[in-house]
Amino acid sequence: MRKTLITGALGQIGSELVVALRDRYGDDQVIASDIRMPASPYESNGPFEYIDCTVRRMMDDVVQKYDVGTIYHLASLLSATAEEKPHVAWDVNMGGLYRVLEIARESRCAVFFPSSIGAFGPNTPKDNTPQDTIQRPNTMYGVTKVAGELLCDYYHSRFGVDARGLRYPGLISYVAPPGGGTTDYAVEIFYEAIRNKRYTCFLGPDTCLDMMYMPDAVKAAIDLMHADPDRLVHRNAFNVTSVNFTPEQLAAEIRKHIPDFVINYDVDPVRQAIADSWPNSIDDSAARAEWDWKPEYDLEMMTADMLENLKKKLKSS
Ligand SMILES: NC(=O)c1ccc[n+]([C@@H]2O[C@H](COP(=O)([O-])OP(=O)(O)OC[C@H]3O[C@@H](n4cnc5c(N)ncnc54)[C@H](O)[C@@H]3O)[C@@H](O)[C@H]2O)c1
Repeated sequence: MRKTLITGALGQIGSELVVALRDRYGDDQVIASDIRMPASPYESNGPFEYIDCTVRRMMDDVVQKYDVGTIYHLASLLSATAEEKPHVAWDVNMGGLYRVLEIARESRCAVFFPSSIGAFGPNTPKDNTPQDTIQRPNTMYGVTKVAGELLCDYYHSRFGVDARGLRYPGLISYVAPPGGGTTDYAVEIFYEAIRNKRYTCFLGPDTCLDMMYMPDAVKAAIDLMHADPDRLVHRNAFNVTSVNFTPEQLAAEIRKHIPDFVINYDVDPVRQAIADSWPNSIDDSAARAEWDWKPEYDLEMMTADMLENLKKKLKSS
């Protein structure tokens, strides 16, 4: 069997996707890579290679060395960081993806590319945002995500590269910290609720966004890569979602477990503007129809699981 390479593997998604793929295929079948070196023991359980995704030779060498057949390309700058460093974001997000697709074309690899609700924009319909709709984002992150979606479609139609992808909403997890996105509050709030029973949120109380618990995000990526290609009408950029809430609603759910939890607000204009340009909720019926996408976690289950696992993690650290 040809092996699987994950770029940006030490990030929020990669930390859990690597484990899930190794459980499925075996430790040696999955090569983790990042521009950082692994720290904790579970991260180094299996091959790890240093790869800067903007340097083609580094990625090429690893693809040849291990006979890689599938690349989950997670290396990226996230929305808030990309606004701070737009030039670096272009190089990493677009330059990295272009190199991955070129290598995939030459070495006949399949590619997974995670897009985002950031690929929409201020004039996208805000509620139940359709799969195929207006995409005019006004952030560097969004620009790289729309262009990435289109580039993946192009490499499939022009060169036959089996590129597939999802538009993730904000992702919530207790394993690795989030990497500088606009929805990071929905992770930080759990840490602060457990540690201090209070949290100051950088988005306003009524900012409604789609979110997803990491086990569902990992399952979505793996399910899509195993989907029957004959059923895929879209291939790339599938809308996927599982929960939808405002900071106020999340705080209310946390209060069911920590009754004296208090939320305050100190709105960050940059991240609020990014959130305001994103949909309130998205329609994932194409993913449900074309590859049977179905999330497992709702807000109640996710909150209970996050609090339980994060308490254990913080106790042991
Ligand atoms: N986490 C979310 O909420 C979310 C939502 C939508 C889409 N996504 C997308 O999913 C992907 C992974 O997201 P994540 O949350 O794991 O991000 P993250 O920031 O936690 O991890 C990204 C990883 O990429 C690495 N990296 C940065 N520059 C690199 C380079 N030049 N070469 C190689 N590696 C490099 C970083 O060291 C980091 O470990 C990204 O494409 C992101 O846009 C994430």
